[in-house]
Amino acid sequence: MVIKSLKLKNYRNYDFLDLKFDPKTNILYGDNAQGKTNILEALYLSGTTKSHRGTKDRDIIQFGHDESHLETVVEKKGSCFQIDMHLKKNSPKGIAIDRIPIRRASELFGIVHFVFFSPEDLNIIKEGPAGRRRFIDLELSQLDKIYLSNLSNYNRIINQRNSLLKDIYGQAHLMETLDIWDMQLVAYGTKVLERRREFISEVNEIISEIHYKLTGGKEKIMLTYEESIGNLTLEQALKKNRERDIRLKSTSVGPHRDDICFMTEGGLDIRKFGSQGQQRTAALSLKLSEIEHVKRLIGDTPILLLDDVLSELDKHRQNYLLDSIHDIQTIITCTGLDEFVNHRFSINKIFHIRNGQAVKAN
Ligand SMILES: Nc1ncnc2c1ncn2[C@@H]1O[C@H](COP(=O)(O)OP(=O)(O)OP(=O)(O)O)[C@@H](O)[C@H]1O
Ligand SMILES: [Mg+2]
Repeated sequence: MVIKSLKLKNYRNYDFLDLKFDPKTNILYGDNAQGKTNILEALYLSGTTKSHRGTKDRDIIQFGHDESHLETVVEKKGSCFQIDMHLKKNSPKGIAIDRIPIRRASELFGIVHFVFFSPEDLNIIKEGPAGRRRFIDLELSQLDKIYLSNLSNYNRIINQRNSLLKDIYGQAHLMETLDIWDMQLVAYGTKVLERRREFISEVNEIISEIHYKLTGGKEKIMLTYEESIGNLTLEQALKKNRERDIRLKSTSVGPHRDDICFMTEGGLDIRKFGSQGQQRTAALSLKLSEIEHVKRLIGDTPILLLDDVLSELDKHRQNYLLDSIHDIQTIITCTGLDEFVNHRFSINKIFHIRNGQAVKAN
């Protein structure tokens, strides 16, 4: 799949923007704070309804305006789709596909698929488990509608259970309500767990080869899904921890407390004992695996958005990354073109981004 064009009106620092992308490699270059990431954000938003930065619609709308418009044209298996998005200050966004308004944002599901890669992704192994859970959730939520719905139900119930735990002390009659939440938590949580286990085994099939090649045959890695429930079922673990949860006023076990472990063949836990370089290489392998995983699941190529990532990588890793993406549409931001000059990598379209304006530069 490819993005043909993007039009923006009153979006962040853009009054107007009208960009036509090449189906292969596109570069957006320019100084800091000129609007490069804003373009990637707009693309990601038009496919997922959310900013990758987690910004609220009202803050995306250009300062001093009440509305913002995005129009994206996607080509998929020979057909074109136009996605229109209308962000408003004080009400939910309006979305239309081929000019027909959709009622629920979830109807946009599956139309277009992005893989967003930013420098923070290179820290995913070094930092805490929340980022690794977020990786699974963002990925599966784009790929699997049922997962998305189970996860949002699970999160809703966890919040309700936690607020009940805050009130329950000394109020025995609330125990019955806790039983009811727990039944639902087990139902949704078990489905979330099962899909995540499956996801990790799907990624494992891909990452071992990528990582082996990326490290020049020096290292093999394997992922395991680390469960806070240990060997128990979610139901058993919730029962076992109930006293403690009441004491601590929060839910201590379940998918919201799980993690992904990255282990070398020699049994080294890269999260804890890996060197900085080892952790970043494993993170790059994970991201490259994500692209391949999406390809396998949707039977099409996703669009890759690379936000300032190349400058974070050494030559060897840059080459590896650029070589692995020649068959998918890629939109790359960078501050200078130097990174590409010495590279045999071919660039199809270059835009110079300056003060909320994009000028074609090749
Ligand atoms: N709602 C908004 N209205 C107007 N301008 C905005 C809004 N939100 C952000 N901006 C402006 O957009 C600019 C940042 O754009 P962006 O993040 O795309 O920069 P960038 O080119 O990616 O820079 P860098 O190279 O530092 O990452 C900032 O100057 C900011 O002031
Ligand atoms: Mg940026």
